[in-house]
Amino acid sequence: MRTPADLQADIGEILLTEAQIQARVAELGAQISADYGGRRLTLVSVLKGSLPFMADLMRSISLPLQIDLMEVSSYGGSTTESSGLVRILKDLSSSIEGEDVLICEDIIDTGLTLNYLVRYLGGKKPATLRICTLLDKPARRLVEIPVDYTGFTIPDQFVVGYGLDYGELYRNLRFVGVLKPEVYADPG
Ligand code: IMP
Ligand code: MG
Repeated sequence: MRTPADLQADIGEILLTEAQIQARVAELGAQISADYGGRRLTLVSVLKGSLPFMADLMRSISLPLQIDLMEVSSYGGSTTESSGLVRILKDLSSSIEGEDVLICEDIIDTGLTLNYLVRYLGGKKPATLRICTLLDKPARRLVEIPVDYTGFTIPDQFVVGYGLDYGELYRNLRFVGVLKPEVYADPG
């Protein structure tokens, strides 16, 4: 069993501190509030990774706002490589037709997940459809994605924390950090 101390010890470098993340999320919220100019916004969170990000971002946005949740899987088990396969595990609960929709993602890596989601949600005829991602890893992009709001652009490293997982763990860390390489080798 991994204790909380073990999980902290698995992190090599802290890439983004809690303070850095909170400051940037506040900036994004202010920018989004200004850009949408009093219109009503629907935030669509892509579970599970974007849960903390959406929870903080929505409270930084001063617009009439509704949320909906989708869950998709693009990675099987605890691997760190995209399978390219996207499966909908949980669909929207309300219609987004005619709504201003902002997709809220944790990280864009290959872009395969969002490429699928943009086409899927676009088919539901929202008035506008934009993308907000906390992290962008452009080095590994396989498909081009028009990203409207980016929290941080990061190097090609596998990161965990603030929603991001490895083998479903580490999501509850308050910061974003790089896993020590030996963690991949030792599942136990
Ligand atoms: P994409 O389809 O390759 O763009 O992958 C997007 C999804 O892969 C994200 O929503 C994450 O769930 C996962 N992912 C990609 N890179 C990382 C990472 O560095 N750490 C944790 N999860 C990641
Ligand atoms: Mg995700």
